[in-house]
Amino acid sequence: MARQKLYKFAANAKAKNVLEAGKPLFETIKGNWHTFFENSSPIVLELACGRGEYTTGLAQVYPDKNFIGIDIKGDRIWKGSTFAQENNLQNVAFLRTLIHDLEKFFAEDEVSEIWLVHPDPRPKKKDAKRRLTHPRFLDSYRKIVKNEGILHLKTDNTGLYEYSLEVLKTQKIENLVQTADLYESPLYDLHHGITTRYEKQFTKEGHKIKYLQCRLLK
Ligand SMILES: C[S@@+](CC[C@H](N)C(=O)[O-])C[C@H]1O[C@@H](n2cnc3c(N)ncnc32)[C@H](O)[C@@H]1O
Repeated sequence: MARQKLYKFAANAKAKNVLEAGKPLFETIKGNWHTFFENSSPIVLELACGRGEYTTGLAQVYPDKNFIGIDIKGDRIWKGSTFAQENNLQNVAFLRTLIHDLEKFFAEDEVSEIWLVHPDPRPKKKDAKRRLTHPRFLDSYRKIVKNEGILHLKTDNTGLYEYSLEVLKTQKIENLVQTADLYESPLYDLHHGITTRYEKQFTKEGHKIKYLQCRLLK
């Protein structure tokens, strides 16, 4: 394995803000996130967080909320974890796991909001089940999110955006707002000026950034 990766994995193993397999908290954190953060502030997830730009960016905008970035790739999480430590962001944590396993780590109603920021679009029809706005994922989000909890999706991908809007038509939701061109939309402020590595690349290639937000009802 590349030395850089080994270095990052070793840093994650020591970092208090990274929860991953092998650490005792990884097994016991479900239902205990408020104890972990030592406050009762709302808990916000960024799924498929990559380097955690939204997790750390939103944590700076909203110091009165707790942010957890979730991704399976430890070397990406390392970037966000390191940024949070260097900037003393006590309201940030990273969880290294598959998103399929969310219910193992969060109790019913433990979460207030979920962000999906440029998740893999999975354009092939046979991969629809792996899209993070597929009904099976929405079902698991609904279990851990409080009633009327907020779901955000930001994507450059027209196929994923349109698919997600179609799926949401079949779901118990309210207050859906959407735009196919966030940068030119009155909703622009909802992006908080945070651009991820993928977003910079996609906008450079000329893709418009799409955004939707809704409340998930039980
Ligand atoms: C296209 S990248 C986007 C990363 C980041 N949100 C951004 O905008 O830069 C997708 C990320 O999702 C993660 N990912 C994809 N499927 C996943 C899954 N089922 N569970 C956990 N992470 C996943 C990948 O490891 C990758 O970091």
